[in-house]
Amino acid sequence: MIERRTFLSMLTATATALVLPGCATPRTYEPVEPVTLTKGPYLLILDATTASLRFETREDLPVQIQIIGPEGIVHGTARRRAEHVGLPWGMEISGNPLDEEGEHVLHEIVLTDLTPGATYRWRLQASPDVVKSGRFRAPPSPTSSTVVAFIADTMYPSSAGVAAMLASHEPEVVVHGGDIQYRTNPADTWNGFFLAMEPLLALGPYQACFGNHELDEPEEAEYYFDRLWAGQGASSTPRYHAIPWGPLLLLCLDSETSDLGDPQSPQVAWAHQTLAEAREKGLHPVLFFHRPTYTLSKYGPRNLNARQVVHDLATTYDCPAVLAGHVHGYERFEVDGIVYLIDGGGGALLTNLEERRDEIEDARPGEPDLRQVAHRSFGGTILRVDDGTLRIERYELDGTLTDQVDITL
Ligand SMILES: [Fe+2]
Repeated sequence: MIERRTFLSMLTATATALVLPGCATPRTYEPVEPVTLTKGPYLLILDATTASLRFETREDLPVQIQIIGPEGIVHGTARRRAEHVGLPWGMEISGNPLDEEGEHVLHEIVLTDLTPGATYRWRLQASPDVVKSGRFRAPPSPTSSTVVAFIADTMYPSSAGVAAMLASHEPEVVVHGGDIQYRTNPADTWNGFFLAMEPLLALGPYQACFGNHELDEPEEAEYYFDRLWAGQGASSTPRYHAIPWGPLLLLCLDSETSDLGDPQSPQVAWAHQTLAEAREKGLHPVLFFHRPTYTLSKYGPRNLNARQVVHDLATTYDCPAVLAGHVHGYERFEVDGIVYLIDGGGGALLTNLEERRDEIEDARPGEPDLRQVAHRSFGGTILRVDDGTLRIERYELDGTLTDQVDITL
């Protein structure tokens, strides 16, 4: 059994959050001592008015960061946590920075009392030569228009291009559909992933679903996914959570470790409660998870229980769309008026999208006809909500729009 050592935890006031009025000009900061920035900054939404800005360094030193909001003062707490990461990652063949074994320090600034829909800017100086900056919008009100990006199955080298392509649409929030890095690709590293995603990280929060490749090694999830996405959606587990975003509720389920096929499971009970509350508030839920419940590839559900559970959730709470990854390509099904969209085109080697067509037709005649569109290509998905319509667009790596569907909310 791998033992993780926690050297320090929950130190308060060890990172510096300085909040300036919206009209202020960012000042240049010289860090007390330069640090090696290994991941981020990246932002997670915790709830409608709370966000967590995070970044990782190798050194256990305070780092100065500026946050500029419309209110002048953002109430926040700052902490840093040093942990021993016992699973190194990557080989020196791609130039991606390696995830080295040893102490890694996660800095976190929790921003509270955010103004709905307001834009905040942040700027971090890690060393004289390394400055990172970005912006984010606080969760907008239910009457706001918004743009959401979906990306999944991100593998070097194509994932950076997909991220840049999606960033050109200026999404306000990103949902990753799981399979963030692959142990099977020696060029992948978690540090490299954060570099590849920088165009998106600079635009807003980056929420994530849990994929099967988050468990390529038994201890991987503990050192990477669970550590880096802890607390997203203010959930007790990072592996499933939900956040309100404009007219939508973005609800991420765990198709890998939390028994999505068991209607009595804690996750499914939580989903029912969360979706019922969202509908009472007039929000339109969109479901996200990793392993699709419909596909004509060989990467479908382990059994049909999860399909039934998800369909019950989607129909009961009037979800317009269900998005998944895992299949490296693009498929769109329509089932009982619900759009089931699969887009695992984030860079991992492309999948045969017809491999199980005949087998599925034999087992459940007519099911292949539910699929409306399929493209064996890299790419990502954009969801636009405006004036009561959810428009879903699929863009390939080169920026070509290859599918579009409008749903009236
Ligand atoms: Fe997968």
